Amino acid sequence: MTSDVLPIAGHAAAQNATVTHRQDQSCRSMLAALAVKGELLVVDDEVDPLFDLSALLSLTHDTFAVRANRIKGYDMPVFGNLLSSLDRIALALNVPRAEIQTSLLASIKTPIAPVLVDDAPVQEKIFEGGVLAHLPVPTFFSEETGPYISAGLMVAVDPETGLGNASYARLKILGPNEALIGIAPNHHLAIMARKAADKGEALPFAVVLGAHPIIQLAACLYLGLGDDEMHCAGSLFGEPVRMTRCRTSDILVPAEAEIVIEGHIHADKPIVEGLVSEYHGMYENYGSGVLATFDCMTTRSDAMFQVIEPGYHAEHIYLAAVPIAASLKAQLSRVILNVGEVAVTESGCGRTNVVIQIDKPRPGQARRAMAVCWGAVSIVKTVTIVDTDVDPWNLAAVELAKSTRMRAERDILIVKDMTADRSEPQEDGFLVTKVGYDATCKPGDRKEGYGKAQPPAESYARMRSLLDRMTPGAPSCVG
Ligand SMILES: Cc1cc2nc3c(=O)[nH]c(=O)nc-3n(C[C@H](O)[C@H](O)[C@H](O)COP(=O)(O)O)c2cc1C
Repeated sequence: MTSDVLPIAGHAAAQNATVTHRQDQSCRSMLAALAVKGELLVVDDEVDPLFDLSALLSLTHDTFAVRANRIKGYDMPVFGNLLSSLDRIALALNVPRAEIQTSLLASIKTPIAPVLVDDAPVQEKIFEGGVLAHLPVPTFFSEETGPYISAGLMVAVDPETGLGNASYARLKILGPNEALIGIAPNHHLAIMARKAADKGEALPFAVVLGAHPIIQLAACLYLGLGDDEMHCAGSLFGEPVRMTRCRTSDILVPAEAEIVIEGHIHADKPIVEGLVSEYHGMYENYGSGVLATFDCMTTRSDAMFQVIEPGYHAEHIYLAAVPIAASLKAQLSRVILNVGEVAVTESGCGRTNVVIQIDKPRPGQARRAMAVCWGAVSIVKTVTIVDTDVDPWNLAAVELAKSTRMRAERDILIVKDMTADRSEPQEDGFLVTKVGYDATCKPGDRKEGYGKAQPPAESYARMRSLLDRMTPGAPSCVG
């Protein structure tokens, strides 16, 4: 591939136009790495996209990534369950698990603009007309009303500012050229589509499938309107994202993705959706989505179709949780300098429950942190504050802190009648009650202190080396 500096608005150009292709920017390297680790299940039996593919991904959601080679009625293979744990996300980012948050945070602070390439693998094949009919789109759940593209990473440019945006949204297939797009009204893509509709126009956009997981994670960061997630992806790669121009618009898309579908969002054309699954594992009835139309599709010559199993399944949870946690940490660290790691828990569906470490919190800081989270991300409901010796991603450790370091009458904050996110399972009249738990040690609460009951360090050292001798090569069993 050759590269030059981006000439168009919406993606400020990288200063250094010399592009060294240090890193693969496709999803194929991740699939290969998972195969080496024995975590990729390759299925050669024929699988029906009507419910069976969903059942396969559901059964394996927290164990195997899956590549299904033969989908009934289609030529294209499918893969899914890629980013279904913190370990997988660390693998994708090529950092130790403990550095996931630092690297995402650094990507927000030091973004790198993309570069344009003119011979993109994702444009090896071009389809025009009836493009959606080529894709093995699954029907996931019994009460949903059609097949959904669940792994569509939407790229668009703000019609007013020319600034770019990347995010996920679902597409329900309505016909070979039409779909319903379901976007929460406060999401940036919805705001851009409404701006276009106000001018009597449809918003050009592109649906990217099978981009590198770094690009997928960056798309889920909560940034300000106008901050382009693709620049954060560049920082995470340590080099600009290589992008190419769509065939039918000026939108730029990752050049090494599997599939790009080019089309328009018609924010002034509502369509009733019916029941749809949400991250909490139940159905929601959001009323209407809006119309999306498609003119063109480009793919690799041997493209694979990506599926994210929606609902309460591991990839759907972690792909949101990890970027939201990093985005909250970015907000919190502006006002709480002693903030540590921030987690968005699996049991909070990767959205609603946040756990925040604060190092020796000063009086009032725990409540301030709760207020920051509720203010920053509407979907956050429960916030727990812990000390830095508690791993916020480890629910058992967080529950232990709540049961040993907290006095309910003093340390639980209940705030009634806060605006609810539309996906909130207990939303009532657009309102919900939010809860904060301050599970940090308060000096003076226990005359015996908070020290852990355990043998002396020297005994641990002696017994650790004994166990290492007895089980050579095994991971040390004593932490
Ligand atoms: C797999 C996945 C699917 C998602 N599906 C939707 C969706 O259908 N509709 C929606 O509004 N948000 C959906 N989201 C959430 C948005 O992509 C996310 O909130 C994003 O940060 C919003 O983009 P913005 O910050 O540019 O507004 C999904 C997130 C993930 C990880």
